[in-house]
Amino acid sequence: MRKIALVNQKGGCGKTTTAINLASCLSGEGRKVLLIDLDPQGHSGLGLGATPGQIENSIYEVLLGKIPINEAIQSLRKNLDAIFSDVLLTAFEQVMAGAREREYKLEQSLADIADDYDYLIIDSPPSVGLLTFNGLMVSEEVIIPVDTSSFSLHGLDKLLNTIKIIEEKTEHYLFIKILASNIDRRTKFGRHVVEKLKTHFPENCFKTVINTCTRLREAASHGKPIAEYDKRCAAFRDYQNLTEEVLDDEAEMKVKTPAFKPLWEAEFLPGQSLEKEIAFTLEASAGATVQIAGDFNNWAPEGLELTESQGRQVWHKVVSLTPGSYQYKYLLDGRWVLDPANGQTVDDFFGGANSVIKV
Ligand SMILES: Nc1ncnc2c1ncn2[C@@H]1O[C@H](COP(=O)(O)OP(=O)(O)OP(=O)(O)O)[C@@H](O)[C@H]1O
Ligand SMILES: [Mg+2]
Repeated sequence: MRKIALVNQKGGCGKTTTAINLASCLSGEGRKVLLIDLDPQGHSGLGLGATPGQIENSIYEVLLGKIPINEAIQSLRKNLDAIFSDVLLTAFEQVMAGAREREYKLEQSLADIADDYDYLIIDSPPSVGLLTFNGLMVSEEVIIPVDTSSFSLHGLDKLLNTIKIIEEKTEHYLFIKILASNIDRRTKFGRHVVEKLKTHFPENCFKTVINTCTRLREAASHGKPIAEYDKRCAAFRDYQNLTEEVLDDEAEMKVKTPAFKPLWEAEFLPGQSLEKEIAFTLEASAGATVQIAGDFNNWAPEGLELTESQGRQVWHKVVSLTPGSYQYKYLLDGRWVLDPANGQTVDDFFGGANSVIKV
């Protein structure tokens, strides 16, 4: 079974639309497909005609181990099955707090159906939390849809960093492909974004571009994939082309990450600098070795400088950060420590915590 997760913490960039239509087109090509919706918003279900409130067994019960996965599978069309989500999934992270192997709940659930499908397509929520993490740990491939909004491009930069950190920490490597999605190529900006993505990620960007097409929105509101709603529209052609590209890789499954290059806002928003200077400080003795590592420097520790201030020995570093949320820690004499001046922390999924700062 080939497992592909649709991931991007940016909302509305086309994850669900791509999950539904890629799953539908793959099933049309004779592949047996299971779509799993890990997003509590439940949009994949709606886009495939599920009635809200009538989903008895969702992925929530499966992840909690209350039912075997077979009991949550719905047969929708020839070759296309799905497991829908439930709004209860919003509580998943809380319910699982402190639970062992909580990043591997989906993987554990899949054992029963490992040979039943050719493709598993996973739709993720617009965040990189425990649910997305479960999807990533199962998948070998990630498709990141990117739309024209500048924040999506900034988000891409952060997301690639996050995936890289996950890969380094878990040694679970992902084959990443970026998909230009919902692009209006009649606009200069739409063409510019496609060109930038293809230049930055020559090997990791789909050749296919999903053009903006209102029929996709209509199809979703009728609970149908585009293949059932309108085969004559551009969106059907685009998703069919995407499917062919995905199928082309069937024989030659590569496992590698894109050559990482930051996508600075300045390239997309000329003349606008969104960066802010953030001062990180830690009190420690003069002879100490103090470093900082976090999302912003790829978790590669950088040294802090010592200053004396009113008899205190303060180590500091100023880092330029674009708006967003960043996890970090200090490395004090080779020991990882949280920032004592910052009460905001997040679970690092490895039994510890990171300090987190919002810019
Ligand atoms: N190519 C497209 N042309 C026109 N509309 C599109 C296109 N792709 C997606 N849309 C519309 O944009 C909206 C957001 O798309 P979608 O739900 O797929 O994004 P998402 O990434 O799953 O969002 P979320 O993060 O909230 O789950 C939907 O109304 C969808 O119908
Ligand atoms: Mg969605």
